[in-house]
Amino acid sequence: MNASTGTYLVTGGAGFIGTNFIRHTLKLRPQWRIVCLDALTYAGNPGNLADLTKLYPGRYRFVHGSILDEALLRVIIDEETLDGVIHFAAESHVDRSILAPQAFIETNVNGTCQLLKVFQSGWEQNGKPENFRFVHVSTDEVYGTLGDTGYFTEASPYAPNSPYSASKAASDHFVRAWHHTYGLPAIVTNCSNNYGPYQFPEKLIPLMILNILEERELPVYGDGANIRDWLYVLDHCEALLTVLERGNPGETYLIGGGAEKRNLEIVHLLCDLLDRLLTRSGAQGSRGLIRFVTDRPGHDYRYAIDATKIRNELGWQPRFRFEGAIEDTVAWYLAHMDWVASIRSGEYRQWIETNYNNR
Ligand code: NAD
Ligand code: DAU
Repeated sequence: MNASTGTYLVTGGAGFIGTNFIRHTLKLRPQWRIVCLDALTYAGNPGNLADLTKLYPGRYRFVHGSILDEALLRVIIDEETLDGVIHFAAESHVDRSILAPQAFIETNVNGTCQLLKVFQSGWEQNGKPENFRFVHVSTDEVYGTLGDTGYFTEASPYAPNSPYSASKAASDHFVRAWHHTYGLPAIVTNCSNNYGPYQFPEKLIPLMILNILEERELPVYGDGANIRDWLYVLDHCEALLTVLERGNPGETYLIGGGAEKRNLEIVHLLCDLLDRLLTRSGAQGSRGLIRFVTDRPGHDYRYAIDATKIRNELGWQPRFRFEGAIEDTVAWYLAHMDWVASIRSGEYRQWIETNYNNR
């Protein structure tokens, strides 16, 4: 872990955003090498990255293991000359955190602290290289909820409302503390809702796409009026590369898509888009599948990001428009039904039953 080699550790790289980040970065940065560390929980799929060792010989390595495993982290530090860590690994689904919060405390809080501890000591042993970066990928949910006006900024007070967001908030505080106390060159990013290829179909957009395809009910929580600020995953990946290369240690950067939509608007849009593609109309129209179900406890009403800081200081802004990127996302799922089949394990079916039956 010293002079600039362009080798980065990506934790949680077999999940949704990590997969997109690794695939995009290997393409955009031909000198870089990526080591992916992933515990392969229900959300991690090694198949997402299986072709990379052949596509990019010598530039990609997969390590199966947990960020909680101190001995394994030390082996990786000894074996690799790392320029930094991009830390995605987490339990990421709010509904799961409501039903079973313990894994969120373990992975998101203890796991992040384990990484900080090991990488800080490795960084010190290597003479504190200035170019080293620890980028912690976090969420806008740490700021709680907005009403109909206003935006989250880097100065917004923390006010997490779910066990998931509380665990991410705690991890953000530890990252900040490791920078201020020990000097670790760490940066926190907080982004809004991502969408795009490889997203696990427990989250709103892929769940609705697949349910529409299979003519299943479309479970909308509450009245569907909640608002999210949608960010195309490749825009997020490019923002993270920008932060990694140009961001200042100790800083926080908010990353948003600038595309606020109500949940019901998203579901209507997906119904209409797929109805056109599948030539469904009239009584067959997918909007008829919508069912308003019991709301998520503590459901945050609105998230919206003011991304002025990253735009003005680092020159990043989203380049994908929602209308086109959502069509590309739908097209990706239609073209990858084999991927969908491969990740719909028994665990997935059980989750769907637990969360939606009798709701
Ligand atoms: P995901 O659930 O799709 O993937 C998480 C990955 O982490 C999986 O591959 C899983 O196997 C791995 N993992 C879990 N526990 C691990 C452990 N102990 N050690 C190593 N790997 C482990 O998540 P995602 O949607 O890709 O989110 C990635 C990160 O971005 C998370 O930190 C999340 O909080 C944050 N984030 C996500 C969004 C979003 O819209 N998806 C928005 C804001 C922030
Ligand atoms: O804001 C960033 C966050 O976005 C990330 O930190 C999380 O990891 C990510 O999961 C996402 O959290 P949300 O809770 O906003 O995403 P989800 O896709 O679960 O839900 C989006 C909205 O849709 C939310 O208001 C709840 C609603 N919803 C969700 C599901 C799964 C429904 O109405 N029905 C559903 O079945």
